[in-house]
Amino acid sequence: MTDNLVQAAYIVAAVLFVLSLAGLSKHESARQGNAFGIVGMVIALGATIWFAADRASDPGLTLTLILCAMAVGAAIGLWRARVVEMTAMPELVAMLHSFVGLAAVLVGYNSFNTSGGLTGSEANIHLVEVFLGVFIGAVTFTGSVVAFLKLSARIPSRPLMLPHRHLLNLGALVVSALLLVWFTAAESWIPLVLMTIVALAFGWHLVASIGGGDMPVVVSMLNSYSGWAAAAAGFMLGNDLLIVTGALVGSSGAILSYIMCKAMNRSFVSVIAGGFGSDGGVSGEERDYGAHREANASDVAALLAQARSVVITPGYGMAVAQAQYPVAELTSRLRAKGVDVRFGIHPVAGRLPGHMNVLLAEAKVPYDIVLGMDEINGDLARTDVVLVIGANDTVNPSAAEEPSSPIAGMPVLRVWEAKDVVVFKRSMATGYAGVQNPLFFKDNSQMLFGDAKERVEDILRSI
Ligand code: TAP
Repeated sequence: MTDNLVQAAYIVAAVLFVLSLAGLSKHESARQGNAFGIVGMVIALGATIWFAADRASDPGLTLTLILCAMAVGAAIGLWRARVVEMTAMPELVAMLHSFVGLAAVLVGYNSFNTSGGLTGSEANIHLVEVFLGVFIGAVTFTGSVVAFLKLSARIPSRPLMLPHRHLLNLGALVVSALLLVWFTAAESWIPLVLMTIVALAFGWHLVASIGGGDMPVVVSMLNSYSGWAAAAAGFMLGNDLLIVTGALVGSSGAILSYIMCKAMNRSFVSVIAGGFGSDGGVSGEERDYGAHREANASDVAALLAQARSVVITPGYGMAVAQAQYPVAELTSRLRAKGVDVRFGIHPVAGRLPGHMNVLLAEAKVPYDIVLGMDEINGDLARTDVVLVIGANDTVNPSAAEEPSSPIAGMPVLRVWEAKDVVVFKRSMATGYAGVQNPLFFKDNSQMLFGDAKERVEDILRSI
């Protein structure tokens, strides 16, 4: 009876998770998607706890232990989620992925320890499940720890270039395959522990050899790995919901990685193979791009007073400055005067997928004027003024024009095609990829230096 009810609850939760993902894929339905996810998770947790208590020899004790563990985890999670800055979100996500990886390793060990009763092919399948679950979990664990350390600048984001690094990766895979054969034949802890050590080193090396520019893809790739690690844990525990949820996370992470690779014009394999991105300036540093023009807030207010169409392309600097509120105010003031104002959002603007969309939604910018890069690029040549608010790499013409640039081929917002461009930033410093930006030196560009929030507020006062 309990089993049937629990299975039914799992199916309902799985459907709610699918609805949640569908809802989260659009601004308008994101809130509803979140609600579906929360309800699904409450049902899933309730059913799992009930199931565990029902099977336990001492249900009271089991229930108390689970609830205590959940209370401690929830307290830490709530505290971290409340204090985390939006800009530090990728680090937090990377750290959370490491927990999923570690959990998969521990579930694997426990599952092997308690799998005594199985025989024949059932036993073999279980051993392979344990081995794969521990392998994926260990890779996810150290990979996520390195991603966390790189994103929080605790270690340099420069790629680690060990000699023969591809051979090292291949070697780790071959050794793990041989250990799997040994493990299934001998059913011993030795190959399992040896493989764990190899997988931990493999995960560390895999992410350490990937450079700063590719970190967003790495985080979503680790998201995908953590999903597969959870699915593997689901197989070991015989928990169908964990398999479904893990597969949803695994495949959505993989799809997101693919979309991001496309947005950065990088092949997935070349990202995994590593080597792109560095700490220092890379291209164009030595070149003389000429002089840049500087504007002040009242110049820009005057320019906007003449404009009929304005496109705003925000980037990481808008998040740092928290300029979304004055930007939203500027938008509504210009719209009230009949100016056509729209936003152009690059898929990897900021530091996490959807970063700019979240900030703009927070400041209550209407969804229908927030457009994706492909939707706005064709209109930029007919635009009077583009305001580049703290964006840099995502509006860099060298991606389109300089084949030797490290970001060559990355699709960018072609803001330089507009009649006038105003770039809001604090200095002439490079952006995330460390590449100089020829946009700043174009005849139709003007630099408005200073903190983006303060400068937009100055413009509001001048209008
Ligand atoms: P970036 O190229 O990172 O440039 C941001 C610019 O904002 C900087 O040049 C900086 O110039 C300026 N800035 C910083 N603080 C500011 C402030 N308070 N006021 C005004 N300006 C400020 O930004 P982007 O165009 O958004 O490009 C994103 C980059 O990050 C891409 O290379 C992308 O691949 C990478 N990345 C993306 C993600 C995802 S998934 N979105 C994750 C990780 C990395 P100053 O210092 O001169 O002010």
